Amino acid sequence: MKKIVIIGANDFQNRLILKAKEMGFETHVFAWKDGSVGEQTADYFYPISIVETDQILEKCREIQPDAVVSIASDLANITVGKVADELGLPCNSPECVHISTNKYAMREAFIKAGLATPRFYRVDRMEVYLFGLKLPVIVKPTDRSGSRAITKVTDFEDLEAAIKKAVSQSFEKQAIVEEYIEGEEYSYETISYKGNHTNLAITKKYTTGAPNFIETGHVEPCEFSEDMLYKIHYVMKKALKALKITDGASHGEFKITPDGKVRIIEIGSRMGGDCIGSDLVSLSTGYDYMEMVIDTACGNPPRFVQKTVPKKAAVRFLFTMEDVEEMRRLEKEHPEKIYRISDIHLSNLGKVSDSSTRLGYYITTEDL
Ligand SMILES: Nc1ncnc2c1ncn2[C@@H]1O[C@H](COP(=O)(O)OP(=O)(O)O)[C@@H](O)[C@H]1O
Ligand SMILES: [Mg+2]
Repeated sequence: MKKIVIIGANDFQNRLILKAKEMGFETHVFAWKDGSVGEQTADYFYPISIVETDQILEKCREIQPDAVVSIASDLANITVGKVADELGLPCNSPECVHISTNKYAMREAFIKAGLATPRFYRVDRMEVYLFGLKLPVIVKPTDRSGSRAITKVTDFEDLEAAIKKAVSQSFEKQAIVEEYIEGEEYSYETISYKGNHTNLAITKKYTTGAPNFIETGHVEPCEFSEDMLYKIHYVMKKALKALKITDGASHGEFKITPDGKVRIIEIGSRMGGDCIGSDLVSLSTGYDYMEMVIDTACGNPPRFVQKTVPKKAAVRFLFTMEDVEEMRRLEKEHPEKIYRISDIHLSNLGKVSDSSTRLGYYITTEDL
């Protein structure tokens, strides 16, 4: 029987566990034991935190899997990269994993590739040269995700506090301060195989905006003029090359500025989180994105087979009681539009500070 190692066991990774089982794999799942659903669905569950790469690698040498995968987390992606590389399985290079998970290394790679990039600095405290940047700026930890400790700063007086917050959340205790890119935000969902990139979908992304930019929802598909689509593909494919992405899923966030330029926010060498990779791409294209991720992780080409009729698909995140009530209303009036409702954590009411503390979400679909 073919064996697959999956890093992470939460709700999102669980969809990958189920898909791998459906494809006939014996699933070996690693995660910190916290009652996540994947602990039950996995054929074999190992209570080892996803950051304990050496311990995971040691176990994997015994398991001898055909592939190592995860879907939508930067931390899991780092472990997948190291373990798969050590086992000689198909994966992105260690360099690719580093530059696609560290926001400073990523900006440097984009500059080297000649891609337009906002001015940026890496700092661990307030520095005098930062006054040379044009306001507003964005301050973020270099190596975190999920909108943790991100601040838009419009007044230099607030910069020091924003840097402190970002540094304190950073694993390497560094912050990146970069000039703010105006415009509407989107993401670019791709599958790569041996360095060839196929864009599957473009997602419209909605956030709370300043100061913390927590995602409120995502919608697929998006409509663009032919000219704009050409620019998007040109910039994003050049960026995928700059990050040396060769295999598996990637999720590239970008903005279209008011004067029509495509500017990159960041690219992850993994699926988009927030149900984008696990649900929206497949719902809006009919393609089986998770199967593609598993196929490429085994060294096989992705299969571009439409299994379902493409639909308009959206995810909405719940922040307030009003959001929950609106969802309940839709559920009553248009039950056919509800594809899935997550567990809802009302205990987080009034305490949403980043994407991990939102109350829950629901996915809707409509005919195109
Ligand atoms: N330079 C920037 N200009 C404008 N908005 C930005 C910039 N950097 C980040 N943002 C906003 O903050 C959000 C989170 O930043 P991002 O770099 O994607 O970090 P994370 O890893 O937490 O997702 C982005 O989706 C975007 O809305
Ligand atoms: Mg992001």
